[in-house]
Order: sequence, then structure tokens, then C-alpha cells
Amino acid sequence: MCNILIVYHSQSGHTQKMAAAVAQGAGSIEGVTVTFKQASEAGLDDLLNCDGLAIGSPEYFGYMAGMVKDFFDRTYDAARGRKEVLKKPYVVFVSAGNDGTGALNHIERICIGYQLKKVYDPVLARGEIDSETLIRCDELGKTIAAGCKEGIY
Ligand SMILES: Cc1cc2nc3c(=O)[nH]c(=O)nc-3n(C[C@H](O)[C@H](O)[C@H](O)COP(=O)(O)O)c2cc1C
Repeated sequence: MCNILIVYHSQSGHTQKMAAAVAQGAGSIEGVTVTFKQASEAGLDDLLNCDGLAIGSPEYFGYMAGMVKDFFDRTYDAARGRKEVLKKPYVVFVSAGNDGTGALNHIERICIGYQLKKVYDPVLARGEIDSETLIRCDELGKTIAAGCKEGIY
């Protein structure tokens, strides 16, 4: 079995819709289980025990949500350099009003610190979450899940 962690924060539901679509895509791959967690509920064990992860955040004030940063703050010291984390595949999805690049860039920068491996382009949604965004999120989930299961990363 291959386990994909989806860790996200959402205040008004946009990022949650994206997270649900990523989870649906990942879970549609045979032999893949999905761990679906709000960032405030996720911790080191989730990070260590997954085979790949999808990180989702809204952009607040040009940055990731505080809860997503808090997840990184709580896990970084203990995770850094652990063999379970090195080169672990990850993808990102961001929901924003009109930008999103601040949140995205800061998440990717932190992931470099963990030595995670970005395996697919992020999904960045601006404004309302439309069906095209949900399809892209579904594909994002399918891609990381299928790649992890096949061991191609
Ligand atoms: C406190 C706050 C700060 C925000 N700051 C930004 C921002 O800097 N850039 C942006 O594009 N959108 C900003 N937005 C809009 C949100 O990113 C957008 O509504 C997003 O879809 C919210 O996702 P959520 O429903 O998952 O919480 C902000 C919204 C809030 C509530």
C-alpha cells in the first residue's frame, strides 16, 4: 500500500474543496490510501508515515495560512534530515483572491529546507473554485499517488 497525506487549511472552504478533489484523485488509484488532515491536526507522524504529500493553503496577507506555517514549525526540527523525509515527493495547491504567489513561493522554499522533492506543477486557483480547478486538483492527486505507487519518484 501507498499512503498519500493531504494536509491543508481552509477558513471559508475554497482550499477545502481543492483538498477534497486532490484526495478523490489520489484515492482513485488502486492500492493507495489517503490521509486527509487539517494542518492544525497533522503532525510529525503523518509526515514520517506517508509516501508522498499534497500541501494546500489559502494565501493570507501574501503568505501561507498561519496553520500551515504552524505545521511546518512543529515538524521541522524533528523531521529535518530523517531518511523518511528526504526526497519525499510533494505537490502544492493554493487558493487566493487575486494572487497566491506569495503563499506558493514560501511553501516551496520551506519544502526545500525539508529536502522534499517537488514532483508536479502546483495548482493555483484565484477567486471562486470552478470545475476546471477541481479537475486539475483531481489530476494532481492522481499524479502524485500513481507516481508514488509505481516508485517512479
Ligand atoms: C485574512 C485574509 C487575507 C487574505 N490575503 C490575501 C492575499 O494576500 N492575496 C490574495 O490573493 N488573497 C488573499 N485573501 C483571499 C483568500 O486567499 C481567498 O479568499 C482564498 O480563496 C481563501 O481560501 P479559504 O476559503 O480556503 O480560506 C485573503 C483572505 C483573508 C481572509
